[in-house]
Amino acid sequence: MTRGSWKTLILGPYSGPMNGKRIVLGVTGGIAAYKSPDLVRRLVERGAQVQVVMTSGAREFVTPLTFQAVSGREVRSELWDSAAEAAMSHIELARWADLVLVAPATADFLAQLSHGLAGSLLGTLCLATAAPVAVAPAMNQQMWANPATAANVALLRARGVQVLGPGVGSQACGETGEGRMLEPVALADAAMALLPVQGPLAGHRVLITAGPTRERIDPVRFISNRSSGKMGYAVAQAARELGAEVTLVSGPVNLCTPPGVRRIDVETAQQMNDAVEAEVAAAQVFIATAAVADYRPSNPASLKIKKVTDSLDLRMERTVDILHAVAQRANRPYVVGFAAETNDVELHARAKLERKNLDLIAVNEVGDCKGFDRDDNQVVVLWHNGGRQELGEGSKTVLARRLMALIAERYLAARS
Ligand code: PMT
Repeated sequence: MTRGSWKTLILGPYSGPMNGKRIVLGVTGGIAAYKSPDLVRRLVERGAQVQVVMTSGAREFVTPLTFQAVSGREVRSELWDSAAEAAMSHIELARWADLVLVAPATADFLAQLSHGLAGSLLGTLCLATAAPVAVAPAMNQQMWANPATAANVALLRARGVQVLGPGVGSQACGETGEGRMLEPVALADAAMALLPVQGPLAGHRVLITAGPTRERIDPVRFISNRSSGKMGYAVAQAARELGAEVTLVSGPVNLCTPPGVRRIDVETAQQMNDAVEAEVAAAQVFIATAAVADYRPSNPASLKIKKVTDSLDLRMERTVDILHAVAQRANRPYVVGFAAETNDVELHARAKLERKNLDLIAVNEVGDCKGFDRDDNQVVVLWHNGGRQELGEGSKTVLARRLMALIAERYLAARS
């Protein structure tokens, strides 16, 4: 990919994180098939092209017309199809797919697939494809627990088929247990993580800190910084979209891990530092978005402090500056910091850039209704010798993509 084209990918029109990826969605004959049109919608809204392939059993539950309406493509079912290239649907689709996802996958289909049976279009294309194959089992809980099904699933897993779910809960048959198909949103996210990602950062590892840290006062109280983790998680997703292998060291937040991102949960600044120390040698780029507590109580109490006095003095000590420590390493990665400032924003940020020896610093003004704990932000990026680029104002998702495009451009240029 040329430099211009990947910048267009991020800064220009953007069709979603799946960006035109081609997914063959196999639908087999189970009651959970009623959720599959919604799965198609979730995949399409993430930017994927979806070709539905139905078994004859699936057509008993949902009509092909429904799938055609949501996917914009005619449904395929026949092994020998005069409309397909050389009349061979299975080869054409097997080559076309970036991913084959079967949802729902019945017990019967899992048995067929594990034994390499090729009597249907779906079974045949699963054998013929070089793309990753994933199945989302859906069946009665006794059928799922049956040793025959368990053996088939074990065989499929051993051959590299991804088994997504099943979930636990009430079933259409009135029973409760394991065997429900995962919900469409969860399946779409899982599919995204399975897609091979190409981009300018493919083969490069990016380590990111995000969220706040919590420093204990006693077992029930802590000191923390304001941070929802939204900015850091958006940066992790944007790095992944550029093809990077992303590890996210995260303080306590209420966010889902972006698809395809490896997440390490920590609570304190010391734990965040330990996790970064363990990972940083393998990373080529380090991005510190976390709002790390600069001080922690020197002597946290082991029991809850009782409110017996009118005031309470807390002695505090400095925590380790994770970003600074990474930037001092002998074989340091490309280092990007964030600056959260309330006043003289760029002045303070430029001082931090120099003092912490960073390659880039992303600056955001914070305060009431700015920066923290909201979906939007405003970011300026600074680098040495007066370098400056405004990324503008907008959602953290969009700003993170612009930021990652700039980081990728400058990091790759610095290597060449
Ligand atoms: O999480 P959100 O609600 O989405 O909010 C996003 C954000 C405002 C928290 C984020 O965009 C941001 O600005 N993060 C940096 C917050 C911060 O702590 O800034 P700082 O200026 O105090 O620290 C400078 C840099 O040093 C930061 O990269 C920080 O991660 C790093 N640092 C700071 C202290 C420390 N002990 N270790 C560090 O690594």
